[in-house]
Amino acid sequence: MTFAVVLAGGIGSRMGNTETPKQYLVLGNKPIIIHTIERFFVYPEFEHVIVLAPKAWVAHTENMIKKSLGDTDKVSVVAGGSTRNETLMNAIRFIEENYGLDDDTIIVTHDAVRPFVTHRIIEENIAAAKQYGACDTVVPATDTIVESQDGEIISQIPNRATLFQGQTPQSFNAKKLKELYESLTDAEKDILTDACKIFAMKGEKVYLVQGEVSNMKITYPFDLKVAATMLGGDFEE
Ligand code: CTP
Repeated sequence: MTFAVVLAGGIGSRMGNTETPKQYLVLGNKPIIIHTIERFFVYPEFEHVIVLAPKAWVAHTENMIKKSLGDTDKVSVVAGGSTRNETLMNAIRFIEENYGLDDDTIIVTHDAVRPFVTHRIIEENIAAAKQYGACDTVVPATDTIVESQDGEIISQIPNRATLFQGQTPQSFNAKKLKELYESLTDAEKDILTDACKIFAMKGEKVYLVQGEVSNMKITYPFDLKVAATMLGGDFEE
């Protein structure tokens, strides 16, 4: 079975609006999170769409979904965790408890704050996760990436031709991800903040799916302005 996992458990501190996590800000005529959920809701292959929200926002998220999608049993809202990976594990636990986990359980995990994901990206994620067990959506790096260990002096400048910027979805064989995550020490969990990195560090191959520059992440207020312009709509700050 293939599941969509929409990660909305964060607080959006870099957006600077601590009252309302950024995924609930309005873009065009609806909250960002609803734009994102709709992309997965209409995609036919998903058995279920699991939305992970901050604990205090679960009921509100359920109401929002009901208002925009009507009564549906295809979407569930579950409380997220204290880190992005913990949120991801809550999704896997939900799947295990409600559907069981087997070797064919695929999860397509996506940031709630990337509302412009395309059908093609989702399709290629599902295919790659089925074939390889793990994939990451990326675009070639456009800026030169400069590494500095101390934030003052350059340590190195890697060759840009081999560098990509990670987007989402990141898609996985859910059982494999759970096994790898559970094998990590607490120290490793602190470092391996990215789920694909867990696979890569454990010597597992992660396939690259071509993303889109338009599949942007809304992190800062400026990003919300860009997103609103892309939609040709209004936004609230
Ligand atoms: N996320 C999550 N659970 C967490 C932390 C983050 O589900 N414990 C989700 C966010 O809701 C977001 C996505 O992961 O959709 C990408 O993370 P990021 O953009 O860093 O979001 P925040 O952690 O909310 O933002 P910030 O780092 O500015 O606080």
